[in-house]
Amino acid sequence: MCSIIGYYGNKIAAPIIVKGLKRMEYRGYDSVGVATESNNQIELKKGVGKVQEVNSKVQLDTLPGKIGIGHTRWATHGKVTDVNAHPHPSSSGKLAIVHNGIIDNFEELKKQLEKEGYIFKSETDSEVIANLLQKNYEATGDVKETIMKTVSEIKGHYAFVAMFENGQLAAARFHEPLIIGVGQDDFFLSSDVLGFIEYTDDAIYMENGNFVILDKNKFQMSDFSGKHVGYAITKVSKEFGDAYKGDYAHFTLKEIYEQPTTILKAGEKTKDAVEKVADHIKHAKNIYMTGSGTSYNSALIAKQILSKFAKIRVETIMSSELQFSSDSIEKNSILIAISQSGESADVLEAVKIAKKANCKIISIVNLTASSLARESDIIIGLNCGPEIGVAATKSFTSQLAIIYKMVQKLSDDKIEIDFNKISESILKILENPTKIQQIAKELKNISDIYVLGRGIHYPIAIEAALKLKELTYIHAEGIPGGELKHGPLALMDSNVFVIIINPNDSTYSDTLTSAREIKARGAKIIGISDVKSNVYDYHIEIPETDELSYPISEIIAIQMLSYYAAIEKDTDPDYPRNLAKSVTVK
Ligand code: AGP
Ligand code: GLU
Repeated sequence: MCSIIGYYGNKIAAPIIVKGLKRMEYRGYDSVGVATESNNQIELKKGVGKVQEVNSKVQLDTLPGKIGIGHTRWATHGKVTDVNAHPHPSSSGKLAIVHNGIIDNFEELKKQLEKEGYIFKSETDSEVIANLLQKNYEATGDVKETIMKTVSEIKGHYAFVAMFENGQLAAARFHEPLIIGVGQDDFFLSSDVLGFIEYTDDAIYMENGNFVILDKNKFQMSDFSGKHVGYAITKVSKEFGDAYKGDYAHFTLKEIYEQPTTILKAGEKTKDAVEKVADHIKHAKNIYMTGSGTSYNSALIAKQILSKFAKIRVETIMSSELQFSSDSIEKNSILIAISQSGESADVLEAVKIAKKANCKIISIVNLTASSLARESDIIIGLNCGPEIGVAATKSFTSQLAIIYKMVQKLSDDKIEIDFNKISESILKILENPTKIQQIAKELKNISDIYVLGRGIHYPIAIEAALKLKELTYIHAEGIPGGELKHGPLALMDSNVFVIIINPNDSTYSDTLTSAREIKARGAKIIGISDVKSNVYDYHIEIPETDELSYPISEIIAIQMLSYYAAIEKDTDPDYPRNLAKSVTVK
């Protein structure tokens, strides 16, 4: 959640920090702030709102100095207020911090520090880091000692950057991402490469449990016990710098429209990996698949098609639930973790549990330098470029493409998948948005929508409901077609809309019958199908294709519908309320 950034160099820091924060805003966006050091003094500005809004109000980018820190917040402790926004100065004002994550023992630390006279202004957990650093700095007079003592006292998940009024910067990482950008004559400490990619593509991915100190004379990396540690500078793929909307109104729309191309690129940089994974799967006793949100929905599809086409049984477990069934994870199995960001805390926790049981970790991940990738034995990259919109779109179809490739290998190439044809089908839907735009208008004032599908189209219905929720704030639910009469039919009346996912495959006639039953109760039907029917009040046509290609066309249609309904409702599709792109806290 949230983004943190620190700058140390020869340029004026504030404009660089503000730019970096704008590019990382997808990570959390309820408030923003910047602090800089100039002439041994810390200056700070912050406020509630998006980077652009707050910057126009208080001119964050005019702060003086060549050293600075910045933050966009996704509140976990304390309301969204100006005071709770980061950076947080310590009570003496001699240092300030930005923090990503949660400090679990902040209440006891705060009580103790208050007793000792330290003053707290905010309701956040983060402010204890500032005051604890101050206390330890007052006691030791040395930044390294101060960081070591502080990290030994705080519990939780965190990445923080601290700026001291003498111009020293320090940053520590514990289960939250922190990447160092190494420029010609400057350094960036950032949650994401997007914070600095415009200036440098040389990066150091900090290891968990390490901290770094920057000042005039040194760049020093140590572990939490104080031992110096080495580091490697790696080149960041330039494609991750391509995070501009271009002519599109929103990142979400741009990312939806990239799919005819991204579907063809899935896994292209890790070609042998699919083969290797297929081999491991063939010989594994148990295969578990995990993920959160959209990535979990991909796992549900994988489970169905691996069973159908390759006769391979996979157990899917939501990452956040895996801890509750950890006893049933059999030793020496395989865990396939699916994630766009590779930074979801729940997914990382699931991996940790599986590793304890000696499982091999295979990741299907977009950010191949992420924490998940680094924890994996084999990585298959989505290669779909940066996904900024909080709602996952292109990453989902790329995940499906990888899963399809795996199934193809495991079925000994018995099933044929023509990705060029899939790409053409996507393009066809994208080229004709008018009908979808008209239907989106009908959704403007409704409060409930259901999405019904059978077989492989049921996980698509779940994913569709997730897209509608996130983008339109309409209550949405996926229904497995066969379950309709076992309960959900009771909800059908003239106030609801039901999306029927009904391609011309083996599920067609049963699903059409479900549609008739729903229509008889007065609900409005939106049919997504390649076959026309008078049961549908509204019809979104998808191209006629084959069993495995239909789900991709269906979700493209739903992504478009959700996006345009969001526009009708005047919500912000890129930054849905209360959400953040990567959920790095549990
Ligand atoms: C999808 O639209 C959501 N924003 C969310 O459910 C997301 O898929 C989930 O948080 C998992 O993220 P990851 O793929 O980066 O791990
Ligand atoms: N826990 C901190 C807060 O609520 C940081 C949250 C974040 O990562 O944005 O302010």
